[in-house]
Amino acid sequence: MVDVSERQDLTGKIAVVTGAARGIGRASAVALAGAGADVVGVDIAARVSQSLDYAPATAEDLVETGRQVQASGRRWLEKTLDQRDSAAVRKAAQEIEREWGGVDVVFANAGIQAFKPLLEMRDADWYDQIEVNLNGTANVVRAFAAVLVRRGGGRIIITSSTQGQHGTKFGSSYSASKWGLLGLMKSAALEFGEHGITVNAVIPGLIDTALTRHEDRYAQALAEAGQTPSRDPEKDEQAAIEALKTKTPLGVPWLEPEDVAPLVVFLASDAARMVSGAAFAATGGDSAHVTS
Ligand SMILES: NC(=O)c1ccc[n+]([C@@H]2O[C@H](COP(=O)([O-])OP(=O)(O)OC[C@H]3O[C@@H](n4cnc5c(N)ncnc54)[C@H](O)[C@@H]3O)[C@@H](O)[C@H]2O)c1
Repeated sequence: MVDVSERQDLTGKIAVVTGAARGIGRASAVALAGAGADVVGVDIAARVSQSLDYAPATAEDLVETGRQVQASGRRWLEKTLDQRDSAAVRKAAQEIEREWGGVDVVFANAGIQAFKPLLEMRDADWYDQIEVNLNGTANVVRAFAAVLVRRGGGRIIITSSTQGQHGTKFGSSYSASKWGLLGLMKSAALEFGEHGITVNAVIPGLIDTALTRHEDRYAQALAEAGQTPSRDPEKDEQAAIEALKTKTPLGVPWLEPEDVAPLVVFLASDAARMVSGAAFAATGGDSAHVTS
């Protein structure tokens, strides 16, 4: 009989997590460490784009993730970089391989989100999300895949979104970037299988992180529900909570980052050794609105 918990034990594995300073990245880094992995946390930990209307992650946030990883008795290493800078990503990959001897799991999760109607976009409103989410994630996948090949196999997990499975009004750049990541994931799965590397995506629903808890996102939720935002942040937050609770089958406005992390641990583990080229969702039931 298969011992599932044994197959999900990550003791001795080295996991690299991008966007590790907070949110889904932090919850997953801590869960991977809880399952036994040593963790390298990668993050820009600074302002990413003028298009964003939420506060950036900080160096202290990244240190706090490290504290939580080390509380599980696991090793922690941090790399501060902008994943748009492919040379910086390649350098970090080489340093990690040299310092820790290799990498087994890459959770390419860092990303940003902003809303703007296509007719009102400045160039940065389109390009920044494509650059960070699609090109930046591809930089991570390309740099670390070479390290996994030298290791003789491994796991790559990419964070997409339900918004990469359907159109998003006023969120075209984000949708395009996250849809593109599913194309990257499937193509990489075809190419890397022969090296013993699986490649999959996680699809978080609406998760309670800095990326979603701000006025623009409340306005987006209200617009989706056919309501007009008042632009009073407290009122709009309450109205958004009600609208989101009604829309989500399991009746929650936001899921917790910890609701996504178990998918990451599973996909990182030997239990998922024959799982590749697929997307796995934790959405509170919102996945029922999409076909894939
Ligand atoms: N929160 C949600 O509802 C939700 C839903 C679906 C998908 N996602 C995706 O999940 C991932 C994590 O988002 P989150 O909700 O935890 O948000 P978050 O803002 O809390 O975390 C994102 C992290 O990525 C880092 N980052 C951003 N740009 C970077 C860059 N260029 N280089 C290096 N690091 C960078 C940030 O500093 C931050 O720490 C993102 O890819 C996001 O698009 C989030």
